[in-house]
Amino acid sequence: MKIFIDTANVDHIREMADIGILSGVTTNPTLIAKEGRDFLEVIKEITEIVDGPISGEVISLEAEGMVKEGIEISKIHPNMVVKIPLTSEGLKATKELSKLGIKTNVTLVFSANQALLAATAGATYVSPFVGRLEDTLHDGIEVVADIRRIFDQYNFKTEIISASIRTPKQMADSALVGAHIATVPYEVLRKAITHPLTDKGIKAFMDDWNAVFNKK
Ligand code: E4P
Repeated sequence: MKIFIDTANVDHIREMADIGILSGVTTNPTLIAKEGRDFLEVIKEITEIVDGPISGEVISLEAEGMVKEGIEISKIHPNMVVKIPLTSEGLKATKELSKLGIKTNVTLVFSANQALLAATAGATYVSPFVGRLEDTLHDGIEVVADIRRIFDQYNFKTEIISASIRTPKQMADSALVGAHIATVPYEVLRKAITHPLTDKGIKAFMDDWNAVFNKK
């Protein structure tokens, strides 16, 4: 499973890219607004940091506007992916953009049926929102597993981006049920990297080494 970061914060993206674990980036209007910076400026900066798929989301609610915006987003950089919400209009726009050879990430997916419809419309990626499902006591990981079974059964090339990840466990569970990608917030990635037993183990190794080789 590939790891994307779910943020528009370029410092966080740079830090994870430097570690070498990032294959892509997803943004959404909330994440862009949180940075308080111009959409185009932030997205261009991200394309200079990460060489992989970068999702930028449309704002229009009608297919025609989504397609126009999508074409503009795709022109920013060859790695750009147009993020489109799963509505009837969104499916229509996905179909149009896929005919133009433009990559799409259909977002706000909450059921296997929605994912099936997005794949049928030609989506490059679908993003089931695991965390938001689990916030409302639904099994988000089961939805990801169902989508994977359906895509495998019918040979869809659409890739699953496990999204709205809140915990390292949701990240690992996404990998276990076959998500192709998990898009993970910075704070969750930091938690996934660290483990108290790793820190404790390093301290013990250093103490043992220094007791023999660095006697004062
Ligand atoms: C997906 O790509 C979205 O940007 C994201 O994962 C939404 O997550 P949230 O539920 O934390 O807002």
